[in-house]
Amino acid sequence: MTADKNDNRSIPEWQDLYDVDETQIEKLPWYSKELDADLKEELENREIKDCKFLDLGTGPATQAFQLAKLGFLVTGTDISESAIARAKSLSKDDVRFVVDNIVNSKLKDNQFDYIFDRGCFHVLVPSDRPKYVSKVKSLLIRNGILFLKTFSIQEPRAYGPYHFSSEMIKELFEKDFDILSSKETVFQGTLFPLPRALFTVMKKRETIIQSKE
Ligand SMILES: C[S@@+](CC[C@H](N)C(=O)[O-])C[C@H]1O[C@@H](n2cnc3c(N)ncnc32)[C@H](O)[C@@H]1O
Repeated sequence: MTADKNDNRSIPEWQDLYDVDETQIEKLPWYSKELDADLKEELENREIKDCKFLDLGTGPATQAFQLAKLGFLVTGTDISESAIARAKSLSKDDVRFVVDNIVNSKLKDNQFDYIFDRGCFHVLVPSDRPKYVSKVKSLLIRNGILFLKTFSIQEPRAYGPYHFSSEMIKELFEKDFDILSSKETVFQGTLFPLPRALFTVMKKRETIIQSKE
């Protein structure tokens, strides 16, 4: 991690952030009504359908609702009670929303085919990352896939979340995941120009238990 890009990050207070009127929600830097373009491309290329998705750090829940529209069985979680209260109020029972802190998660293991994290991992303090990696791995079923969108080290703004390179992601995840692809892209939202982002697709690695024979 380079000191210049990742010192003094500015992370918001999440709890009451979503307890505001809709015009304020729509101004949040990460607010994007449409399904993330990089996730959409992966869903199409991999012909993914009819399965269980976790939208981790769902926030405004736009991604959870878009995934539900495509027919997935979706759970949206967030540490912020105001985010989940708002999401529940908008839901037509098409998405299950749960308050949950991924670094101290109460979610049952081995239940999701896919996890989408658009902007949660990159706001965690570095000391929480190992707990995140371990829990996300446990939540996925065998061969489950994590789609991870973070700010990229290429993003020039000196404020906001942590920035990552593909090498940094590899170092943090490779013990538990096989990296399938990693690409430089943008983080759709309300900032102009759109922040530079990194989109990583990785598959849960199974622990091989050696027989003693
Ligand atoms: C940058 S926002 C992205 C929101 C949403 N994924 C989107 O794309 O619109 C990050 C979200 O992660 C949530 N978050 C932060 N720390 C978290 C944690 N430890 N566990 C679960 N959610 C967390 C925040 O409340 C916030 O809603």
